[in-house]
Amino acid sequence: MTERVVLAVETSCDDTCAAVVADGVIRSNVISSQAAAHARYGGVVPEVASRHHLELINPVVDAALGEAGATLEDVDAIAVTRGPGLIGALLVGVSSAKALAAARGLPMVGVDHLHGHVAANFLAPAPLEPPFLCLIASGGHTLLAGVRERTRFEVLGQTLDDAAGEALDKGARLLGLGYPGGPAIQRLAADGDPDAYPFPVAMAREPGLDFSFSGLKTALLYTVRELGEAEAEARRADLAASFQAAVVGQLVAKLGRALDDGDWHAVALGGGVAANALLRERVEALAAERGLRMKLVAPELCTDNAAMIGAAALELEPTAYPDYLDWDARA
Ligand code: KG4
Ligand code: ZN
Repeated sequence: MTERVVLAVETSCDDTCAAVVADGVIRSNVISSQAAAHARYGGVVPEVASRHHLELINPVVDAALGEAGATLEDVDAIAVTRGPGLIGALLVGVSSAKALAAARGLPMVGVDHLHGHVAANFLAPAPLEPPFLCLIASGGHTLLAGVRERTRFEVLGQTLDDAAGEALDKGARLLGLGYPGGPAIQRLAADGDPDAYPFPVAMAREPGLDFSFSGLKTALLYTVRELGEAEAEARRADLAASFQAAVVGQLVAKLGRALDDGDWHAVALGGGVAANALLRERVEALAAERGLRMKLVAPELCTDNAAMIGAAALELEPTAYPDYLDWDARA
């Protein structure tokens, strides 16, 4: 069989991404982060995101093709994230992908963003074969995915309120750090004491596999208030380290419980928070302790990117031209 080449587009949030993936191998993976544009608002502003995607999408697609040494002639299908995400942002990607595909009569593959985060684990080197348990933690989602096939996954537990990344972003804002908060907290935490403040590892005692992070955010807010501005500023590194430890502690506790409940022999991570060094270290230790196979995708494949969308698309049935022309996006 000849190699299948996919051009993938991802614009669900604040990164404009395009990639060329040939079978399970990344030929190019271009990410134009808008973080700087959103930083002064302390979070993603949907209208700002859509406008930036519109400006960036064509140059980013051109760069992905250029870096792969490919033209549209070499591409077998166009893949695009259809949701979930910011509707205006998604629509830029879906419309651009349709235009590219229609111009050449190419087939299209619509991809679920979360399936993309799982599918990052199917990429070379050392693709992970299902079955495996995958913790997905990002700015919009926190869930445990039971992956038994490459084409789909089962949600075993998920957050009841905020996502882990959202909690880190909000915590960072409380500490006067920039957006995105996760990397900022990780940097500051490196100089802090994770045991300085006993933030609750929420849901640790409740049964089940669901998560909750909103109480943790409130606990940080109260602690900062009690300390007062000057003291909170002086103890910022300890606060960041303790807060990060509580977020990661809950993720690892629930992952451990899901491993207890199921018959999993392999474990993986996905989503932006999976780029976190403490989480990676703790999950590696957990896997080693239990003798499980583990895949740790590179941090740049954990945060949003189009290579993961290409990886998911390679597992799915393409839709022939012109049947995708009425496709919409899912918010
Ligand atoms: O998957 P992603 O890029 O976008 C969504 O689908 O949401 O995840 C973004 C989230 C943000 O909340 C960001 O703060 C967090 O991932 N994040 C991190 C790190 N890098 C990104 N959190 C903790 N440590 C990191 N190194
Ligand atoms: Zn994501």
